[in-house]
Amino acid sequence: MLNKVTDTARELITFKAETTTIPYANEIAKYFSIDSPQELKLDFGFWASVLHFEMRYLSLDFFLEKNVSPVVLELSAGYSLRGLDYANKNPEKSYFDTDLMPVVNAKIEMLKYLDIAIPSNLKFQELDVLKLDKNLIRDQELLIINEGLLMYFNREKQSQILKNIHSVLQKNGGTWVTADIYLKHETSAVGSDKDKKWGRFFKSNNVSGNYFDSFEEAEQFFYDNGFIIASKYEPEFEKFSSLPNLLQKASAQQLEDLKNKGNVQQTWQFAIR
Ligand SMILES: C[S@@+](CC[C@H](N)C(=O)[O-])C[C@H]1O[C@@H](n2cnc3c(N)ncnc32)[C@H](O)[C@@H]1O
Repeated sequence: MLNKVTDTARELITFKAETTTIPYANEIAKYFSIDSPQELKLDFGFWASVLHFEMRYLSLDFFLEKNVSPVVLELSAGYSLRGLDYANKNPEKSYFDTDLMPVVNAKIEMLKYLDIAIPSNLKFQELDVLKLDKNLIRDQELLIINEGLLMYFNREKQSQILKNIHSVLQKNGGTWVTADIYLKHETSAVGSDKDKKWGRFFKSNNVSGNYFDSFEEAEQFFYDNGFIIASKYEPEFEKFSSLPNLLQKASAQQLEDLKNKGNVQQTWQFAIR
């Protein structure tokens, strides 16, 4: 089922559950009764999607591992338990795991069902990025992170989100890492969207219109909204558990098509200017 933006968080688990690098992904998939058919697991396009989402997930981890800010704020976290993993491993840091209310409630239900203890340095909280309150977190420096959000908003709304994040960073200090630097691309070219549900959903939400025409355009858009790039993530291919599966399922032509598609997504860390 893929009708609303909140549904996308659940749908992504299909891909994440096929990796071995994303904490709790299997438990979450089991909880939602997500089990990809064997036939899908033979499909090159499916593994191309798994690799994409694994890379996107690990790109945020890359910045989390180097984090020196006392507080992490994850926006639109969906059903990810990255925060739980981080809070357990870093008891001296605080982690705010946020999303819209229906997702936060469903996530708390899920944690109860899975009987997972929640450490005191992890908070689940409703946060609508369009109404982000700059006083949400006391004056402590922040690392703000997010993946898979900006593409569901047009430029005007994206600009509003950027301004909201800017005012939080202006008050607290810190940086923002977003994996949402996507260029316009043809999703059906190599994807696994056989039943076209993502295609239909993207069309009805004009996602492709919300992507950027070039990385230069993206950089300018963030600059115009008060941000400069502090660093860019470089994929560490040796870390991606799904890569061997992708290579095993691929024909020479499919690999060539994937290469020709080029780089359509990047993760950037921003400071305010
Ligand atoms: C594609 S999912 C990504 C979830 C998670 N980051 C991941 O990668 O698994 C998009 C998420 O954005 C959230 N979202 C949509 N509109 C939002 C808003 N205005 N404020 C905060 N979160 C929002 C949805 O509820 C959903 O969880």
